[in-house]
Amino acid sequence: MSEFHALVPAAGFGARMRNELPKQYLPLAGKPMLAHALETLCGCGELATVFVVLSPDDAQFRTFDWARFGDKLQPLFCGGATRAQSVANGLLAAELEADDWVLVHDAARPCLTQAHLARLLAELRDDPVGGILAVPVADTLKRADAQQRIACTEPREGLWQAQTPQMFRAGLLMQALQQCRAVTDEASAVEALGLQPKLVAGDSGNFKVTYPQDIVLAELLLSNKK
Ligand code: CTP
Ligand code: MG
Repeated sequence: MSEFHALVPAAGFGARMRNELPKQYLPLAGKPMLAHALETLCGCGELATVFVVLSPDDAQFRTFDWARFGDKLQPLFCGGATRAQSVANGLLAAELEADDWVLVHDAARPCLTQAHLARLLAELRDDPVGGILAVPVADTLKRADAQQRIACTEPREGLWQAQTPQMFRAGLLMQALQQCRAVTDEASAVEALGLQPKLVAGDSGNFKVTYPQDIVLAELLLSNKK
């Protein structure tokens, strides 16, 4: 029977965060940002393994005590130059069965909940393609010209913001990433194969911590979760 695994790319620098410490290690509600998503994923009974893809010269991971996360947590020191490369390297190192499901989740989305995971798993476990958590775009969208003036208003109908986890069969995802490396998420690589991943409605709480001001919001959400 096919298993479910998580794979967490955590080998970036967090350039937009403008901090010396890589974003995934910034302190957030009392622990490194990375620990939040890993705790949620390790706490999900359906997931057999939680792989975390780290930079080969990561010096931070070992400074935190991961013992209580148990054997389920598997660090892989094989991150690459881009997120897609880190995911591809991690998939190769994880040696999963082609039919196993893999849930790729950003280390920079610490507010993931068990409810998000349950929804994704329930909607996709029998899906032939797989899919992603996403949120319908709520704001009015403006296209800018070179002077940062509004060139036009874009219709937002049918537009969704992609989040993670992104859930695909390991074999399909590996094939997709080998054929299409210049992607910012797994779904784009699968789309390039001519397939149509499903959009599973999540919520804006599972946002990606990108800029310094996002830290405060994430801490607020995490303090409500407990
Ligand atoms: N990531 C990775 N390997 C890379 C680049 C990114 O594993 N070469 C990971 C990040 O650590 C993060 C996730 O991919 O958990 C989402 O990427 P993003 O939020 O863009 O993080 P960074 O690339 O680190 O940030 P920035 O783009 O601001 O530099
Ligand atoms: Mg990035």
